[in-house]
Amino acid sequence: MAILVTGGAGYIGSHTCVELLNEGQEIIVVDNFSNSKPEALKRISEITGRQFKFYELDLLNEVQLEKVFMENEIDAAIHFAGLKSVGESVTIPLRYYQTNITSTVILCEIMKKYEVRNLVFSSSATVYGMPERCPISEEFPLSALNPYGRTKLMIEEILQDLHKSDSGWSISLLRYFNPVGAHKSGLIGEDPNGIPNNLMPYISQVGVGKLEYLNVFGNEYPTLDGTGIRDYIHVVDLAMGHLKALKKILTSTGIEAYNLGTGNGYSVLEMVDAFEKATGVPIPYKIVEARAGDAAICYADPTKAKKELGWEAKFGVEEMCADSWKWQSLNPYGYEIKKKFIQV
Ligand code: UFG
Repeated sequence: MAILVTGGAGYIGSHTCVELLNEGQEIIVVDNFSNSKPEALKRISEITGRQFKFYELDLLNEVQLEKVFMENEIDAAIHFAGLKSVGESVTIPLRYYQTNITSTVILCEIMKKYEVRNLVFSSSATVYGMPERCPISEEFPLSALNPYGRTKLMIEEILQDLHKSDSGWSISLLRYFNPVGAHKSGLIGEDPNGIPNNLMPYISQVGVGKLEYLNVFGNEYPTLDGTGIRDYIHVVDLAMGHLKALKKILTSTGIEAYNLGTGNGYSVLEMVDAFEKATGVPIPYKIVEARAGDAAICYADPTKAKKELGWEAKFGVEEMCADSWKWQSLNPYGYEIKKKFIQV
């Protein structure tokens, strides 16, 4: 029995591979390294002491992908591969539709052909659009605010249709809130291309001195300190959520969406404070204009995942910050240069 992991070299994918291998699963990873590095795969083996099969390929390449199914006994797929930058998706929407949607359709076609009908899909809390209230439960209305969000929403709908057409499919739609943190070893973590869009990698890069200060996007939201509130979740907790979802889909059929969040909201300034406390590293910041399209408050109701998957987040913000910092300070240039960073 093998689990296909698409995008397994990426941030959430690599952490999930580690937990799958630790659990004794056989995995087959595919990745095209469009936003990840081969080094991540070496480090997965270094952490777990296990080897696994890897194919460098683009999911849009049907012929190469089919070869993976021909050569292996695959029981289920965890589908992480895809583009994920909101801003970029507004500039190059067609590339987002092609990469995210077409590749998912191709993957499902091949899965169907090889009678592999178990799928865990990387969705996002972005499918709730601008939520009217919090906490957000899975029954909330769905909408999209940008092409990236639309790809996630459309894929969810495509998978719903697929299940309607053939009830033998077993699909889990995992709606991630805000993944942060890194593996305890500090060997794998988030390695964004260029200047980070997201809060935690930005804070960590200010911490190592790569960036001068944090821009806090707006302080006039209706929150305690005026800055935006999010549900930050440790990436290892998120990885464990995939293992639980996998267990569920392998033992039942149906299609279900689950929020993967902690249920707790933290403001930008609370995160800055938590980071400084956890690491002792000061984070200078400036308040700047709010970012277009940002919700004021967004946090999950994770009850359904607890009830149906037996999953709940275990790590708090202190560990999220400490682990993000360990990764960033040991790898100031991400996977690019493997040298120990010496703080001056
Ligand atoms: N923020 C700053 N400064 C920064 C970056 C972020 O103040 O440099 C603030 C944002 O305004 C927001 C919070 O920090 O209040 C979190 O922002 P992120 O960019 O880290 O995360 P988002 O909640 O905007 O986006 C995340 C995922 C998206 C997903 C979205 C909705 O990155 O993929 O959640 O679920 F679409």
